[in-house]
Amino acid sequence: MKKVNIQEAKERCARPERICMAITLDEKGTPDIIPLGWKMWTSGEPPMVAISVAHARYSHQLLHECKEFVLAWPGEDMSRGVLLCGTKSGRDVDKIAATGWTPLPSTEIRPPLIEECSVNLECKLVSTLDTGDHTIFVGEIVAGYVSEDDRRMLISIGEEEGYDSLGGRGGYRFGAVRR
Ligand SMILES: Cc1cc2nc3c(=O)[nH]c(=O)nc-3n(C[C@H](O)[C@H](O)[C@H](O)COP(=O)(O)O)c2cc1C
Repeated sequence: MKKVNIQEAKERCARPERICMAITLDEKGTPDIIPLGWKMWTSGEPPMVAISVAHARYSHQLLHECKEFVLAWPGEDMSRGVLLCGTKSGRDVDKIAATGWTPLPSTEIRPPLIEECSVNLECKLVSTLDTGDHTIFVGEIVAGYVSEDDRRMLISIGEEEGYDSLGGRGGYRFGAVRR
């Protein structure tokens, strides 16, 4: 065991991670979509999930305002759109229009599901916690949906081996995993 800088130690264990996306709404009712790697399940009963969002993101503001979000897991065929949503801000881009993805009405909350995704969860914000440069948003899951296909799901990979690489850009590399 050797002592290294913290970033090097984190790089070794941070990936692969499944990518999900939080969908919120602005005050005009336009959805914003933020791809996320930092997500954790936090309660089984009631079912809860937490996401960690940097202060600078437009989604950070919208999560505070909207207090509801859909958490959606993209398939491997959605990597281009995920990269777009993860490198542009909803302050500048209508991400639904830019990706061509299909919003579907949720049943319990206002932000929409994304039809093309493998999984959609409707979440109501129940708690927040500021942690350094990110805020943890905890949502209670009030409804869930899965697609009926068996596409592989999108993951974020680093330099480790053992995954098919789908390429990437801007420091992000994508892979795929069968569910
Ligand atoms: C694969 C991937 C994972 C990401 N994970 C996170 C994350 O966990 N937390 C975060 O704040 N930003 C994360 N980002 C960056 C945001 O998605 C990105 O800054 C996005 O453009 C913010 O959009 P917004 O300003 O519309 O909210 C990730 C991006 C990608 C492509």
